[in-house]
Amino acid sequence: MELNEWQQTWSGGLDRILCMQGGDDDGSYARNSDAPASAISLSKPLLIAAIQSMRLFHGEASLRIADLGCATGFNTLSTIDLVIDTLRGRYNKDCAFEPEFEAFFSDLPSNDFNSLFRSLPPFIDNKKKRYYAAGVPGSFYHRLFPKGKLHVAVSLSALHWLSRIPEVVLDKRSLAWNKGRAWIDGAKKEVVEAYAKQSDEDLRAFLQCRREEIVEGGTLFILMAGRQGLEQPENQLGDPDSRAKHPFTSSMDQAWEDLLNEGLIDEETRDTFNIPAYMRSIEEVEKAFHQCGGFEIQRLEYQRIVEHSKEKQEEWIRDPVSYGRAKANLVRATLRPIVEAHLGPKLSEELFKRFEKRASADIEMLHKTCFYGVIVVCAIRK
Ligand SMILES: C[S@@+](CC[C@H](N)C(=O)[O-])C[C@H]1O[C@@H](n2cnc3c(N)ncnc32)[C@H](O)[C@@H]1O
Repeated sequence: MELNEWQQTWSGGLDRILCMQGGDDDGSYARNSDAPASAISLSKPLLIAAIQSMRLFHGEASLRIADLGCATGFNTLSTIDLVIDTLRGRYNKDCAFEPEFEAFFSDLPSNDFNSLFRSLPPFIDNKKKRYYAAGVPGSFYHRLFPKGKLHVAVSLSALHWLSRIPEVVLDKRSLAWNKGRAWIDGAKKEVVEAYAKQSDEDLRAFLQCRREEIVEGGTLFILMAGRQGLEQPENQLGDPDSRAKHPFTSSMDQAWEDLLNEGLIDEETRDTFNIPAYMRSIEEVEKAFHQCGGFEIQRLEYQRIVEHSKEKQEEWIRDPVSYGRAKANLVRATLRPIVEAHLGPKLSEELFKRFEKRASADIEMLHKTCFYGVIVVCAIRK
């Protein structure tokens, strides 16, 4: 049967499975990255300010910039451009000298690096490259570069993805067994604690690796999905509407329940699927930086981003089916590889179809304006 052929236990590590959907069709990440793009636009002034205030490296022939968790598409390319343009402007002004630039696009090995490489900018003229690009496959929870290699490291909308699902969450006998839910918002205390512990270990591992790789005076800029400090981790998403409308909550759980009720999967298959994401608070991020040491935090803030533009919302109110389709494409773009690893391609598509139906049926929700929370950190390697 299809399910048995495909079902994998990937609780031990997601490195080989997790990625955003490649290519450029309707279900690809490249076409469904508006929310990360809004987050980047919002944090752009902070990134520019961070690059403007970092020290210049005199005598370095080339500067090295990495985007960790780059995926594919416009967001990573425009971010690398922004960092390089800002640095280039500073070197021209202050040093009358322009170093060469190397850009490292890093993501898990399953990322669609081919699509990314095809969209790289061409030569400025026949001789000169805007920057020298390279792909670096691997998990940012491990070392990716030699010591003291990087001058700037950015990671955008990526660090809320955990390295693994905590084992206790998948253990039927454990109090932390996450029955009937695909994610942790509103889950039992024990489930959320297990995720929080994993998140804590992961963030410390990330920072320890970057502490080795970034040169003294270099910049680390992180933007990740996060939650407001006042909220307990059981509430990952803030206000009740934003919680109910988030693609990982109600419609997702209903879609799994539909597959179960239709006899397409059994309960265990539903209950062993979990989404490996955790929204940290400012306090949790600050604690990890202090425990790791080696960085001076220059900025650490929480920001709230409206889910869609007013125009988009009005368009969807007129056509709820297209809303369901857009939401399902977003879920396909972000979750397809891990859902397929669990269910196989055919049943995964059935799940996404149920999700689409559930999302477009929830007309009341369409009228609500919802928000995503993000945490932005800018730190200098001491
Ligand atoms: C939502 S996308 C963000 C992509 C891009 N930075 C942007 O802003 O559009 C998250 C990316 O993080 C990557 N990612 C998740 N966990 C990772 C890990 N442990 N190591 C490296 N990349 C990871 C995913 O593969 C995915 O490409």
